[in-house]
Amino acid sequence: MDATGTTPTAGPDGRRTVLIDCDPGHDDAIALLLALARPEWHVETVSIVAGNTTLPNAVRAALQVLTVADRTEVPVHAGRDRPLERALRTAAHVHGESGLEGPVLPEPAVAPRPEHAVDLLVRRLGRARDEGRPIEVAATGPLTNLGAALRRDPTIARGVSRLVVMGGAITEGNVTPAAEFNIWVDPEAAAEVFDADLDVTMVGLDVTHRAILPTARFEELRDLGTPVGTLAAELCDFFLRFHSRTYGFDGVPIHDACAVAALLDPTLVETRHLRVDVETSSRHCDGRTVVDLWSVTGREPNVHVGVDVDRERFLDLLVSSIASYPGA
Ligand code: BDR
Ligand code: CA
Repeated sequence: MDATGTTPTAGPDGRRTVLIDCDPGHDDAIALLLALARPEWHVETVSIVAGNTTLPNAVRAALQVLTVADRTEVPVHAGRDRPLERALRTAAHVHGESGLEGPVLPEPAVAPRPEHAVDLLVRRLGRARDEGRPIEVAATGPLTNLGAALRRDPTIARGVSRLVVMGGAITEGNVTPAAEFNIWVDPEAAAEVFDADLDVTMVGLDVTHRAILPTARFEELRDLGTPVGTLAAELCDFFLRFHSRTYGFDGVPIHDACAVAALLDPTLVETRHLRVDVETSSRHCDGRTVVDLWSVTGREPNVHVGVDVDRERFLDLLVSSIASYPGA
């Protein structure tokens, strides 16, 4: 495995600071629950981008998840409502119209914060750069917020110790034969991020499709009998519909939780440092992450590309983190 990033520095309370940028989304919701459960981390903000669903739906979904988890002190910031240069294309065929179909969810107990997510990222990562205390970032939706922030101020890259992105693939696609959804929605933003002076890890479909949570383990979540356990199980139930119909899987790839887990513990996902370019204008391959596996271009590697995952250790981390939430 290649070496990714700098060793994350813990704050005065011993926890590492992480920002999550997401588009909930069933797997985003579970990824959020995983991140919020981890004692190693202080989830400082959750920023929202349009992707799986519209921006207002995704903001509402994030707030609903925080409400169920009783973690409404975590600030939620709405970001871009469309890609940098394109119209928004959502994934209602996977996540339903609301983005989080399936479970019965409460009304959000809090509202989003007024600051736009892109302003927040520029400000917070700028501060981290200036203080020389770079922080971790997980991005589990289209890379529009981060791409916009980097376009505004490329030097904020120095405020990021490590960025893990759920997106792309070496060999497959899930929205077209060539492209993965998050990159396909906003390829220009993905190119912006991959070309920035950042330590980026890409956790793509090659990894997430090897980390299926089997249906048998849905019951472990349900049997917890807690609000968060029930929510996670019901999210999996709905997510299964698309994955059994499309791939014949007897379980679900919790893509975004894989990326969050790879940020938390880099030993979970095996990576290779490779050149990755994003296709932004192609009839058949728009949004493809073109991975130079054999260094045929001779160009400098820019992305730590996930190639394998320690499936059992990842799934145990996920289930035990969900199990750490208290009962009602
Ligand atoms: C990615 O696309 C979305 O539907 C999921 O939330 C995940 O981030 C998988 O391709
Ligand atoms: Ca997502």
